[in-house]
Amino acid sequence: MFYYLSVPAVLLWYAYFRYSRRRMYELSDKIPGPKSFPLIGSAHELIHIRSDLYAVVWERSKDFPWDIPHKLWIGPLLYVGLQDPRDIEVILGSNVHLDKSDEYRFFRPWFGNGLLISSGDHWRSHRKLIAPTFHLNVLKSFIQQFNLNSLEVVRKMRKEVGREFDVHDYMSEATVEMLLETAMGVSKNEQESGYEYAMAVMKMCDILHMRHTKFWLYPETIFRLTKHFSEQKRLLGIIHGLTKRVIKSKKAGFSRGFSDDLAQNSKVNISENTEASETAAEDTGMSYGQSSKLRDDLDLDDNDVGEKKRMAFLDLLIESARDSELLSDQDIKEEVDTIMFEGHDTTAAGSSFFLCMMGLHQDIQDRIHEELQHIFGDSDRPVTFQDTLEMKYLERCLMETLRIYPPVPVIARRLREETALPTGYTIPAGCTIIIPIIRIHRNPHIYPDPDAFNPDNFLPEASASRHYYSFIPFSAGPRSCVGRKYAILKLKILLSTILRNYRVHTAVPEKDWQMTGDIILKRADGFRISLQSRKREGSDDRKPAA
Ligand code: HEM
Repeated sequence: MFYYLSVPAVLLWYAYFRYSRRRMYELSDKIPGPKSFPLIGSAHELIHIRSDLYAVVWERSKDFPWDIPHKLWIGPLLYVGLQDPRDIEVILGSNVHLDKSDEYRFFRPWFGNGLLISSGDHWRSHRKLIAPTFHLNVLKSFIQQFNLNSLEVVRKMRKEVGREFDVHDYMSEATVEMLLETAMGVSKNEQESGYEYAMAVMKMCDILHMRHTKFWLYPETIFRLTKHFSEQKRLLGIIHGLTKRVIKSKKAGFSRGFSDDLAQNSKVNISENTEASETAAEDTGMSYGQSSKLRDDLDLDDNDVGEKKRMAFLDLLIESARDSELLSDQDIKEEVDTIMFEGHDTTAAGSSFFLCMMGLHQDIQDRIHEELQHIFGDSDRPVTFQDTLEMKYLERCLMETLRIYPPVPVIARRLREETALPTGYTIPAGCTIIIPIIRIHRNPHIYPDPDAFNPDNFLPEASASRHYYSFIPFSAGPRSCVGRKYAILKLKILLSTILRNYRVHTAVPEKDWQMTGDIILKRADGFRISLQSRKREGSDDRKPAA
């Protein structure tokens, strides 16, 4: 009896479900995409993916035309990938399409309601609080820590000279420690190893990536029955352990009556060099990793940034929590977890790709070294903010690395409103918008010979001739990366210090690199390079430059 009733009930429900989404089907029918079957859509395509979604999707996507949207149905879920920078501007530049897609929910046990995945008023108020803590004027106070930590990594890598090793391990540890000593303003020596934290993050990303590719692990109840859930619990113990210690140590500092102890050491005159930095952006057509025609809340003028907001990230959060009810201890923890992840894994991948590119292109490395010789001569002095503005060729090489190997290769948004795009397609409400940053960066209609490493792609005239959403390693618009300027300043100091001390080599040709896109783009085969000491005349070889 139950059987006879349940079959028509299910059919009736399915008919209603289809009817209520008729507009979605009508619009999606006009968007090109692979063959889709009733109920499963194109989910059968995912079943064969054993390990790396990135490699499979990258291979398949080569058959798609470059500039029009594409759709993919996975069961009842509609995904639409955008590729034309004009379409992407409509989504990323908007103040409406701000919500992250449902796939980001797997991050929730890790980041809670942190800035990367939160939405609505919670995101808006936290973004307003946090963005000024990454303003250039605050970042300038981090320069001494960036220099000291860069020197330390040069010293640590000394033992690897002459043999092949994976530079990513060193970059991960260094970027975690720099975050602790700058944005968090605590001593890394009090926090035990940043390396253990970085390794736990890598394994956590593997689990999240696996869940994205295995749709039967989407429901929490099923995931909790697997061994991956207990592994996730163990890893989160290590990750959250570090963030709790950081907050505890910072609060202890506050109650002893001092704040921002590390970052304050190198506080510079707030107005120093601001003019120079703007001139540099005009010169190069790039402003800290995005087209200088794009402006976001990190580009506020000095005058718009109040005195209190000129504080480092964790200082401001703790002070704000003391002054008002707006921020709870849990809020602080979630934001620290978010910044610790976003701030280290991305720059560790970016710097590792950069060094591998240097190993492959010795002529380009020579040109950077000439530029550094011109700036520093044979001096051992540390890098100043003004020096970073003069590293124009190094900056172009860094932009070119972020173009070919963007550390965040894909981002996604949930579309709440039906949206008409400049390419003529209308995208239905309720779908997930995919923005494949890496594919936009490799579009041959935008970048001639897109797979070749060519820093001249970032000559001012080349940048000016492209749509400003053609280069978006940090995303763009109101939800762009809050650490964009932090990342570029840090990377210039770290990479110039390494190249002043070592010549980088690599024996692995680019065609043999195995890529993996487990959240952050990386080389699955390891970032294998070797180093040769640069002996400077009259200098002690063991004493690093900077
Ligand atoms: C090369 C380095 C970096 C790259 C390529 C990068 C890239 C990105 C991208 C593409 C997004 C948008 C993500 C999305 O929409 O899903 C993002 C967001 C974010 N990034 Fe970065 N990032 C880098 C470094 C950093 C650093 C150093 C920090 C902090 C110190 C940081 C903090 C954040 C935060 C908090 C968000 C979320 C912002 C929001 O939703 O309001 N990132 N990043």
